Amino acid sequence: MENERYTCITLRNALDTLADDIRQALTAPRKWLPCKYFYDPTGNALFEQICELPEYYLTRTETAILKQHAVHIIGRCPSDLTLVELGSGSSTKSRYLIESCLARQQDLTYYAVDISPAGLENGTRQLLDNYPRLRVVGVAAEFADGLGYLTTHASGPRLVAFLGSTIGNFTEEDIARFFTMLRRHLRPMDRLLLGVDLIKDPAVLEAAYDDAQGVTAKFNLNILARLNRELSANFDLATFRHRAVWNHERGRIEMNLVSVRNQRVRIGDLNLDIDFRQDETIHTENCYKYSQSGMESLLTRHGFQVLGHFSDPRDQFCLFLAS
Ligand code: TRP
Repeated sequence: MENERYTCITLRNALDTLADDIRQALTAPRKWLPCKYFYDPTGNALFEQICELPEYYLTRTETAILKQHAVHIIGRCPSDLTLVELGSGSSTKSRYLIESCLARQQDLTYYAVDISPAGLENGTRQLLDNYPRLRVVGVAAEFADGLGYLTTHASGPRLVAFLGSTIGNFTEEDIARFFTMLRRHLRPMDRLLLGVDLIKDPAVLEAAYDDAQGVTAKFNLNILARLNRELSANFDLATFRHRAVWNHERGRIEMNLVSVRNQRVRIGDLNLDIDFRQDETIHTENCYKYSQSGMESLLTRHGFQVLGHFSDPRDQFCLFLAS
């Protein structure tokens, strides 16, 4: 991008570990795939489509909350903020935070951290066109590396936004690790803005992850297509089915790919054959849902102080501001 207000850095090519990660995950007793590999250019485009689906209320709801409350959220942060977003994707939601910041400070630097470098450039181009006093630093990196970079580069008080209920894709251990890392990198004047999907009717939840048009199914299956493309695998996508079910005990949607028959798949670049039984699953993602009080105590337990929470009139989704 030709723009002196935009810089992009790639920290450590996250794809360097693809081969090792996939070998480990698919040879485990219960096969799984790391969800960060969903987000190649095709996966990004499919995810953008998911965000527009009638069943996928998350994006719409969170955007509406931000639109209504960005001023109040920014109002509870120190002045002269630097904005950081982890997992910025197409950067559509951050515009409300950006606007509120620019209403009270001269200029603003927005650090967009995302695993997908292509998404970063596309997403932030429009923001730069719309806001002449904005500078954008795209950081193509995993969250941990991105945060480490920011500690040494972003000065002044920071607001770290972690939206889209991405925290819901973390296990309890992931969360413990993530919060510990955040606390190591954040200072008392910094703030965390956390977007969390709330527990609700399982039918609503399951529909959000298994839409009528089959876009989510395509998104889930794309991870196999990606292994075909990038690791010379020969997954036949017609022999795997998308399945999303609500696990009540664990409070999460479980995303799986189910093999419809006994089969052997070859992953050429790994020199590896993998056998699947009929109905055997590859676990691709968890989407944990929380109650408002559940997330508040989780934050408190990890040393954060909740300064406020903002939700929609139907209490579908909640944004937590913490220090
Ligand atoms: N963070 C998103 C969520 O939990 C990710 C997501 C949405 C997703 N839809 C998906 C992941 C479908 C895998 C499959 O809502």
